[in-house]
Amino acid sequence: MAKSTESWGSRVGLILAMAGNAVGLGNFLRFPIQAVENGGGAFIIPYLVCFLLMGIPLLFIEWSSGRYGGRFGNHSTPYILDSMVKGRALKYIGVFGIFTNLAIVAYYSYIESWTMSYVYHSLKGTFSGMSQGEVAGFFNSYVDVTHSTTGIPYEAVVFFVLCLAFNTFILSKGIRGVEKVAKIGMPLLILFGILLAIRGYTLGTSGASDLFPNANAWDGLNFLWTPQYDSLLNPKVWLAAAGQIFFTLSVGLGTIHCYASYVRSKDDIALNSVTAGFMNGFVEVVIGSAIVIPIAAGYLGLDWVMNNAGFGMAFQTMPYLFQQWGPVLAAVAGVMWFGLLFFSGITSSLAMGTPWLGFMRDEFGWSNTKGAWSFGVMALILGLPTVFFYQEGVFDDYDYWAGTVSLVFFAFFEVILYSWVFGIDKGWREINLGADIKVPTIYKYVIKYVTPLLLGWVFFASIPSMFDKLTHQDTFNRSSFADVYYAENFDRTGTAIGTVEEVGARYIKFSFEN
Ligand code: PHE
Ligand code: NA
Repeated sequence: MAKSTESWGSRVGLILAMAGNAVGLGNFLRFPIQAVENGGGAFIIPYLVCFLLMGIPLLFIEWSSGRYGGRFGNHSTPYILDSMVKGRALKYIGVFGIFTNLAIVAYYSYIESWTMSYVYHSLKGTFSGMSQGEVAGFFNSYVDVTHSTTGIPYEAVVFFVLCLAFNTFILSKGIRGVEKVAKIGMPLLILFGILLAIRGYTLGTSGASDLFPNANAWDGLNFLWTPQYDSLLNPKVWLAAAGQIFFTLSVGLGTIHCYASYVRSKDDIALNSVTAGFMNGFVEVVIGSAIVIPIAAGYLGLDWVMNNAGFGMAFQTMPYLFQQWGPVLAAVAGVMWFGLLFFSGITSSLAMGTPWLGFMRDEFGWSNTKGAWSFGVMALILGLPTVFFYQEGVFDDYDYWAGTVSLVFFAFFEVILYSWVFGIDKGWREINLGADIKVPTIYKYVIKYVTPLLLGWVFFASIPSMFDKLTHQDTFNRSSFADVYYAENFDRTGTAIGTVEEVGARYIKFSFEN
């Protein structure tokens, strides 16, 4: 077996790579929508509680498990778990730490490829002079691959392949290639994000158009930040908050295991993990919330935002709003916005590739090149259904099962294994080994009792909605990726795919025949 001797080049590189893994499309596209859909300020408290009681503990668990496994030359979840619980069948559940990545990357890298294409179109000035409807229509025809009216036939497929090729190329350079991309991409992303966020924070009513004279960016910010305590009793809000925390921190699927396995065995993980986690939080809460929502509210009003909040806003609305700043600034803003989305996306999709590379290298002696190519090809094969059946909602199935259910399930398994099989005393020693901060002792008890209980509750409380999903009784909450498509499609044409069971303020419940 070819044991890897790869490791991170520097502490800064490690932190940026880990932050790059976490900071992703989830911060800029998923978070603001989740927040709006779950009551704005009402969402923030459960979100922060979930961060402290589940997010941080899982970061400690995954970083320390990864570094522990790396000591034995293991770089993927199944074998990292094997080094922790020698000889037990439990480790087989570790395959989640490889395959979940493949399932997520399939749809994630497709969105990433849109951002690439939109950088190109922003530079080219494609959106200039387009009406709001035309910009939205451009997106609809873009994802309708067979009717591409964007100039290149099958343009979405072309960019998807390009995007995967780029990922493959970097992955073939191993962990140091990933580190290099993070060192370039993360600072740029944060710079672009801060510039756009400043616009969001300062737009006020100055951007108000004649169409919406009362539009005010501050309405969006106030809505997001005014706490509402009544929602604390609503389990749905808690589930949404927990789901967002898992997705945004990239916990529950093995990418952190893998990255941490390249940390030298006595190097700090306590401070590093918290630093990367807080960097993700900063980008999400301070920057991510200050772009789409306030800018859209500034031009179109908060009511419009509430009624249209959805994943498509980033692509369907932002390029139109940028036009209000004149052609040059529109191009600059477009490149910054889609460029930052691209950097945030690629540093995450690369992370999803590394467990597969590590596994094939450790166990079968594969080179990084072979690992990278096989990963790229699998991502393409798994991704094509999302490309061609986008309108059929395949996207949504991937996001639900791989991007939500699987993370929560696996994280639950992990925390039990860590606290109760590996043993919290050993675990606590691992977390503190080489630590550059004193981790508050209370976290020992949080990891042992609170995190498993809370996570178990989240998981079991979600089971009814999983059955709904399986029996094709879906409650579309207008927040997840393809749900928005359905909800909008239903609104626009008046024909729903399936039978409408119930229409709520923020959701439409369908049942499907097939
Ligand atoms: N955390 C990433 C985001 O916020 C998504 C991701 C999930 C990345 C799982 C890697 C693994 O977009
Ligand atoms: Na994130």
